[in-house]
Amino acid sequence: MSNFYLNSIVTPFLFVTDLDNTLVGDDKALVELNHKLRRHREEHGTKIVYATGRSPVLYQQLQTAKNLLQPDALIAAVGTEIYLNGNDTPEPAWSERLSQGWDRDLVVATTTHFADLTPQPDSEQRPFKVSFFLTEVAASVVLPQLKSLLQERSLDTKLIYSTGQDLDILPRNSDKGLAMQFLRQKWGIEAEKTVVCGDSGNDIALFSVGEERGIVVGNASLELLEWHNTNPDNYRYLAKANCAGGILEGLKHFGFLE
Ligand code: GLC
Ligand code: MG
Repeated sequence: MSNFYLNSIVTPFLFVTDLDNTLVGDDKALVELNHKLRRHREEHGTKIVYATGRSPVLYQQLQTAKNLLQPDALIAAVGTEIYLNGNDTPEPAWSERLSQGWDRDLVVATTTHFADLTPQPDSEQRPFKVSFFLTEVAASVVLPQLKSLLQERSLDTKLIYSTGQDLDILPRNSDKGLAMQFLRQKWGIEAEKTVVCGDSGNDIALFSVGEERGIVVGNASLELLEWHNTNPDNYRYLAKANCAGGILEGLKHFGFLE
């Protein structure tokens, strides 16, 4: 066993993971991963962050159903809301940053020109996130048109399409990756001591924002696999196993856990 390996497994790290089909999806592997993460947090001060597309309401449902560990911070609504230590109110410094130049009403008004955009449930419409269902067939036509109409109206937005069905419209300066970096810098943790995990389109931002270590789980969706294949990187590991099993495999690969 090399010194590097011995050193790294006792060093605290920042663990950032998507929930649906990444952390959650293989109950047996999740029990093993939770056990290891909980111990690492207790013994070495490792931090656990969930980065989900879900609103806080839908997050709570999953948290209860799957008995998830309490995270040190929750990044919700595709990176547009950050909650520290179980707080009910989102981190004001982050919300403040996203409100610059964001005109939610005008974004919503712009989307009404597209019949193929079906609004998601009210719970998933958030102060800095407007979300729709959009089929893959319609997406290739609608996305470029919507993008240019938003630009024409000087709306500084980011469009994120996931699993061939979900479209999120966010302020330009937000996504899961930027929210993760906000926390990483706040806590003073280096990129090489940070690992991010995901399975779908809204996780590309986690993998592409910097030099954080990345774990793409084996069951990743097409849009993420395509992006991964066209942007290969030593910092990113494509796991063979699915969900929490793939995370365990990746954490071992990078030497964060045994
Ligand atoms: C979650 C959210 C949904 C979002 C999707 C993709 O399912 O509930 O609003 O569109 O993630 O980001
Ligand atoms: Mg997911």
